[in-house]
Amino acid sequence: MPRQLFVTTALPYANAPFHIGHIMEYTQADIWVRYQRMMGLAVDFVCADDTHGAPIMIAAEKAGKTPQQFVADIAAGRAQYMDGFHIGFDNWHSTDGPENHALARQIYIDLRDNPDGSLIEARTIAQFFDPQKNMFLPDRFIKGECPKCHAKDQYGDNCESCGAVYAPTDLINPYSALSGATPELRDSEHFFFKLSDPRCVAYLSQWTQDGKLQPEVANKVKEWFTVRTNPDGSTSDGLGDWDISRDAPYFGIEIPDAPGKYFYVWLDAPIGYLASLKNLLEKRGQDYERYMANPELEQYHFIGKDIVTFHTLFWPATLHFSGRKVPDNVFVHGFLTVNNGEKMSKSRGTGLDPLKYLRLGMNPEWLRYYLAAKLSARNEDIDFNADDFMARVNSDLIGKYINIASRAAGFLTKRFAGRLGVVSEDGAAMLHHLRSERPLIEQFYETREYAKALRQTMLLADRVNAYVDANKPWDLAKNPGQEARLQDVCTVCIKAFRILTCYLKPVLPALAQQVEKFLQIEPISFANITEPLRVGHAIGSYQHLMQRVDAKQLDALFEVPSADTGATASTQPTAANAASATHPGSQSADTGASNAVPKKTGLGQPSPGGEAIAPTISIDEFAKIDLRIARIVQCQAVAGSSKLLQLTLDAGEVDGVGQPMTRNVFSGIASAYQPEQLVGKLTVWVANLAPRKMKFGISEGMVLAASHADEKAQPGIYLLEPLAGAQPGMRVH
Ligand code: 2FM
Ligand code: ZN
Repeated sequence: MPRQLFVTTALPYANAPFHIGHIMEYTQADIWVRYQRMMGLAVDFVCADDTHGAPIMIAAEKAGKTPQQFVADIAAGRAQYMDGFHIGFDNWHSTDGPENHALARQIYIDLRDNPDGSLIEARTIAQFFDPQKNMFLPDRFIKGECPKCHAKDQYGDNCESCGAVYAPTDLINPYSALSGATPELRDSEHFFFKLSDPRCVAYLSQWTQDGKLQPEVANKVKEWFTVRTNPDGSTSDGLGDWDISRDAPYFGIEIPDAPGKYFYVWLDAPIGYLASLKNLLEKRGQDYERYMANPELEQYHFIGKDIVTFHTLFWPATLHFSGRKVPDNVFVHGFLTVNNGEKMSKSRGTGLDPLKYLRLGMNPEWLRYYLAAKLSARNEDIDFNADDFMARVNSDLIGKYINIASRAAGFLTKRFAGRLGVVSEDGAAMLHHLRSERPLIEQFYETREYAKALRQTMLLADRVNAYVDANKPWDLAKNPGQEARLQDVCTVCIKAFRILTCYLKPVLPALAQQVEKFLQIEPISFANITEPLRVGHAIGSYQHLMQRVDAKQLDALFEVPSADTGATASTQPTAANAASATHPGSQSADTGASNAVPKKTGLGQPSPGGEAIAPTISIDEFAKIDLRIARIVQCQAVAGSSKLLQLTLDAGEVDGVGQPMTRNVFSGIASAYQPEQLVGKLTVWVANLAPRKMKFGISEGMVLAASHADEKAQPGIYLLEPLAGAQPGMRVH
């Protein structure tokens, strides 16, 4: 029976699409899984969405969805990343699935009813409660003034301004970030996992220090056994007990025998690893309990360095003291920065959007190769650098490896019907050397030293290229007396190419498949690579295997969408430009300075309405713009301007003595409307824009209108009008 491995990556929160850091982790694990399978091991590789917790519950409410619908919508977007980057999970599940509910409850019961004494303890603690929302507030949803530096609007656990760490109760003038209400301290019964129990301390000291964890991880974990930092910044001795419950309302799993109490998301999240596996096994008709009872089963988790505590303390303790199998290892990686985390620049932004990468038609295996070329077994951060990316893909992957096949295959197919010939001694010696490196390369993959595996492979490719340069098949081809040598040299190249493909296959699975087709061979594995291709084996015709990276693709990838509109703007005032005076960022209707210029788009970049979507903003940034309903009570042409109309708005305001007030706004919509058409209409205006002095008077805001960026191709300006029922003064959210 082959060794059986159960491998996971951290379960991502189901509140956002993937970022490049997720793709890095999944790629790291996927390479390892593919390697293990190429070694003949049986691997089940699973993941799931981490769905529970207050932040997701609140985000769902804001989005007007049930939490279940919210996480289902996120889940629906996952496959495109996995398919796109060749990440071969066997199963993708959800921590809100029935398997996880049942497993979490059973694991809790097993901990509570541990025959050597319960590991669960109930305690009453005081917590901030939002009287308006009728719920206890998680730390992140309590804000107030920092007790140290007095910065306003700081979170309940630490100050972003001075870095102080404190308890939410230390905040000055705390308020609920959900409702703005002043929170009240209320008592609530919580359940704690007794991590300070001597049994736990003894077990975890052994489990974390027996040599399996990466040395830097084990050292960090060791510190937690002697000293820990409390929420108020003070320190105490050793492991602290872990609060595993939250009060309703909470999107999570209800605790057995404790109505209204839910498991804290971090209790049920890792159990989701087991739940996803169980779901997979059930789909296959396999028995979960039997699978887990296999004493030979090996369990591995790939995670980031920010969640080590959960995976090296809480998780093994949860499993061990509930009588379950514990992980064989936890592999910790660092973070990924992009272009050295450099500041947004006009031409190249900072983020690397994985879907944009795919949309631009960039080869996913370039990214896999590049990430692998930077990854080691240590948990250090790595940087994606655009120039380095291009150099490594073009010079190493294509220049050194792909070129070997392209240099040799043509001669074989044209001159020898694709048939391999006899290899003479010099070529055989080189192939022997290539094969003899296999154990070293295997060891590099096994220990997740991918950078070393690729470096070693590229050194071998250098050697093959030196062999080609020394033997010059293009010269041999000109000499009819050298037919046999030509076939010999090209055969050596193809055999070498096959071996190198094996060494790269965990990283480049799709390319390896293309190569297998081209060479007309069985799937390559570390096990079968020692069997040489026989004389007379015919290869297929060479099709180009991989394109080079084009700098333009990287420019498009990092281009900040429409951030610099206006900088390249036409200086000609146009109707559409004038309309854009109603667009935040430009009030100067009459000057023609404008946001609305047909935007040159990157390769395949979508540009609805003729311009790329602007860079993402946070909800907080959006909330700064106060959009209100207003009624146009008067409207008139502006003497001296063919573009502007002067609007008088009833925005629902009254002055200090209770009299209705109006606002004066100039808008560049004269080409689209006669003044009398607009009188009495409701529209939307930006109510908190700084007043602007114009040639014709002061504009106290702006009304919103739509237009296409290319006003010649698609003329027209359309003032926004709300559906029936809206009243002046109402806020537009
Ligand atoms: O940090 C995170 O993104 C968590 N959602 C990881 C959970 S890993 C596991 F425990 F589920
Ligand atoms: Zn502070």
